[in-house]
Parts: sequence; C-alpha cells; structure tokens
Amino acid sequence: MASVTLNAIRKTYDNGVEVIRGVDLQVCDGEFMVFVGPSGCGKSTMMRMIAGLEDISAGELRIGERLANDVPPADRGVAMVFQSYALYPHMTVAQNMGFSLDLAGLSKAEIAAQVGRVAEILQITHLLDRKPKALSGGQRQRVAIGRAIVRNPEVFLFDEPLSNLDASLRVQMRVELTKLHRQLGATMIYVTHDQVEAMTMGDRIAVFNAGVIEQVGTPLELYREPANVFVAQFMGSPRMNLMGAAASVGDTEVALRLTAQPQAAPTLRPLAGCALDAAALARVAQVGVRPESLRVVADSDAEAVNGGWPVRIDVTEHLGDSVLLHARFAGTAVAAEPLCLKLPAAQAEHWRPDDAVRVLAEPGALHLFDGQGRRLGAL
Ligand SMILES: Nc1ncnc2c1ncn2[C@@H]1O[C@H](COP(=O)(O)OP(=O)(O)O)[C@@H](O)[C@H]1O
Ligand SMILES: [Mg+2]
Repeated sequence: MASVTLNAIRKTYDNGVEVIRGVDLQVCDGEFMVFVGPSGCGKSTMMRMIAGLEDISAGELRIGERLANDVPPADRGVAMVFQSYALYPHMTVAQNMGFSLDLAGLSKAEIAAQVGRVAEILQITHLLDRKPKALSGGQRQRVAIGRAIVRNPEVFLFDEPLSNLDASLRVQMRVELTKLHRQLGATMIYVTHDQVEAMTMGDRIAVFNAGVIEQVGTPLELYREPANVFVAQFMGSPRMNLMGAAASVGDTEVALRLTAQPQAAPTLRPLAGCALDAAALARVAQVGVRPESLRVVADSDAEAVNGGWPVRIDVTEHLGDSVLLHARFAGTAVAAEPLCLKLPAAQAEHWRPDDAVRVLAEPGALHLFDGQGRRLGAL
C-alpha cells in the first residue's frame, strides 16, 4: 500500500488551457479518498496524471516516498477502473482478468490461482468461463474491478465506475466497493460527480471546482462546516438555500436580516454562545440554510415565534420518507428567492400549496458567509 501526495500540481493541455490550477493533497496510506465536483472541473485529468496516462505540467506527484512524475504507468503500482470498462470481447472473464498477469510473465498456475482468489472476493467465480457479451452491466463492472485487483496495486483509481449502472445496482455496488476497500485495506481514489456517492463512500472528500480543490475533509466536516458557498451548495440534497443577509449585534442578541426581504422580521440569536466576534458579524453578506434544518409553524402562531420568515407554499413533493416544500417569501413574485424545506413525511398532510406559514431555522443551522462566499461561522 502507499500514500499519494500531490504537490502544487498543474496541467495545461496543448490548447493552452490550464485545467488543473495548483492542487495540493495528501491521500493517506489505506485511505478511501473521493474526488467530487461538477462535470469538467478536472477530476479525470487529475486521475489520469496520477495513473501516468497524462503528463504533469508542473508540480510533484509522489506515490509512497517515490517521485512518480516520470515513472512509466506500468511501474507506478496503480490500477485504474474507468466508467467505460472496455473488456476484451473475444476473451473469457478469466482471460480478461488474467491478461495483465500473463503479460507480466506469470505461469498459468499462478494466474489461475490469483484470478480464482479475486473472483471469490467479487463473487464472480461462476462467470469465469463466460464472454463479456453474456454478462449484465453490473457483472461486467465487477470483472473490470477484478482486472484491477489481480494486479495487486498499491493504489486503486476509480473514475466514475458506476455511472453506467442503473440506480439500484449503483447502490449495491457502492456498498460492495466500500466493503472491498475494508477487505483489501488498499489506498483508493474514487471520482464521482454524485454527492451521495461521495458522502457515503469517502473517508475524506476533496471537492473540486474549476481546476482547484475548494475543501478537503470528512463527509460530516464538509456537511457541517462547508468552507464556502460552493461546497455548501454542492454537498447536500436538495441543495442549501442561500440568501443575501446582514447581521447586527445588540446587547444580548445577534439579529440577522435577509437583505432582499425587508418585510421579514430579523432572526434573533443569543449573543452568549455565538462563536463569531463583532468584526466577523460585520462581514456577513450571505446566509445559507439546509432544507432539512428548517421547520414550519402556522402563520397564526407567529406571535409566539420570534423572527419566523413569512412564506407561501408553492409546491409540495412527497418522497415517501419525507416531504419537500417549495415556498417563496410572502409578497414576492413566483420566481423570486425560492426556499426549499425538507420535513418528515408525518408532517406532509399539515401543509398544502398556497398556505401562508412561518419558517424557522434550527439553532446553529444558519451558515454565514462573507461577500466572497467564504465561511464565517454559524448562528
Ligand atoms: N485532451 C484534452 N485536451 C484539451 N482539453 C481537455 C482534454 N481533456 C480534457 N480537457 C478539458 O479539461 C477540462 C477538465 O476535463 P476533465 O478532467 O475530463 O473533467 P471531469 O472529469 O471533472 O469532468 C474540461 O474543460 C475538458 O474539456
Ligand atoms: Mg471525468
């Protein structure tokens, strides 16, 4: 096993466009690291550089202690599994899996033993004599993963390996890959654009955006303390609501106003226990709140409720285990500042489209950001 160290890595393609713009990251030995980010942000480019399929324009790549920038792909000790898992159609599963060992000059008996062992791990022993065309999508993906495992690499690179599978199979393979990681104890880097996959699989997640890493952390760190509005809105589904805001400090309370909603009373929080100082509060420009951190009270209860935001419900979406309310601030046009709430399903029948209600954020659930979108803290 080995760590992977990226030090000021940059990549400019021949057309002169810089797509990786200085990436620093330490993937620990045995870690499951997820690269997540929108399409085109440079995830595959980064993986291909680690694998040696693409030159590194600047910076240092280390696999273990060894500087790997100029090490040929076959000597890096890495194995990569792609979204399109191109198996050789004329070869059986066993031959596909054993191909690299054959090239490496292992004996027939050694190859059979190694392929057999890996087939058992992946539960595909009964498929070894089949050709790829006689396999389902999920089985083919398993063979592609098996082909990587037989090489006994120090580092596994997975580039969106589940994207071609249907939803239920993705969930199943997701769990299997997590188990496989535990079983092999290998270093794995896994690329996805799906934040649910990232949250569920990663020991840590690196959030990519336009060729840089916005934040690295455990799934819960990213969810609870997103470093900026990009991470805040990328991680979590439905995404975090984000609104213009300003804070002012009283004797005993902090008041948070929504700048585009002057009719909404400020949300008041006790000053005691507020981790932000006056200078930080003065820089507040935006507030983010997750749909699942909001709750609803009837408009008639509003007297009892300090600072509830007045909204009108536009649409309700029942998800079975929960319900989404799409609302907008009272007195605003249909398209203006929509607010999304996620409530337990048991509350679904309480609220209907066109209801006027008040919305409250749980204590600590108001994420505050400055004018550049950087995190200041929470209220
Ligand atoms: N061979 C290439 N030549 C020029 N530009 C490329 C090449 N490969 C990828 N790109 C560009 O680099 C950017 C990042 O691509 P990629 O790493 O594939 O992103 P992701 O995997 O995150 O979707 C994109 O804008 C893409 O168009
Ligand atoms: Mg990609």
